[in-house]
Amino acid sequence: YVHENADKASYYVANEIASLIKTKAKTKESVVLGLATGSTPTKVYDYLVDFHKKGLISFSNVFTFNLDEYYPMHPKSIHSYVRFMNEHLFDHIDIPKENIHIPDGTLSKEDLRDYCQAYEEKITNLGGIDLQLLGIGRTGHIGFNEPGSTETSKTRLVRLDRVTRLDAASDFFGEENVPTKAITMGVGTIMAAKRIILMAWGEGKAQVIRDSVEGEIKESVPATFLQQHQNCDFILDKASASEL
Ligand code: GLP
Repeated sequence: YVHENADKASYYVANEIASLIKTKAKTKESVVLGLATGSTPTKVYDYLVDFHKKGLISFSNVFTFNLDEYYPMHPKSIHSYVRFMNEHLFDHIDIPKENIHIPDGTLSKEDLRDYCQAYEEKITNLGGIDLQLLGIGRTGHIGFNEPGSTETSKTRLVRLDRVTRLDAASDFFGEENVPTKAITMGVGTIMAAKRIILMAWGEGKAQVIRDSVEGEIKESVPATFLQQHQNCDFILDKASASEL
């Protein structure tokens, strides 16, 4: 779906999330959201905060699982995705703290395997992800599933691609400060979501959007796996759709 601009597209996505929350609230069912970081989803979060402030939606019955976190990373660091999510969303809504899940970048390597497995189990025990939000990296990564990630991969520690680290360099005041690793949900974790919305804005994403939508399904562009999902939409602005 190609929208006039990122703002209109974000409003559309925020409305879909809000209507899911409202529908489930009627039957007192909980909602499980898979959330993304980066510059792409920030306007969606702004709208959700706005809807909440206007009294249109409550997050009291919403559970969230974030896609990824740099490793190692302290939650109080200015670069942490914990801080990002608090600033953009969680500090402004009524979600119970215990409903929020973001991969823990402080764990020791020895504890990571069990932790990642438990992350998967928590999602499954809550009935799976109802709606997964995604951005996309220039490498075709979703979450931090870089080229080479398999279709069935699960939550795990990964090594970041050079291109991804270059793209993050300005946030970290230099490429040398960007962590070389991250914890990410796997492609398989993402593909298990009942509904997926991938968003992309700007001409810098046009090529990877074309490869993801029209290209052959392959591990070297992990977003191509989404072509096989039964309920996945790409929500784009005109610039990111310009090569389709
Ligand atoms: C990071 C995140 C991804 C995100 C991507 C794109 O690498 N881990 O989840 O989709 O960046 O970032 P941006 O939205 O800033 O373009």
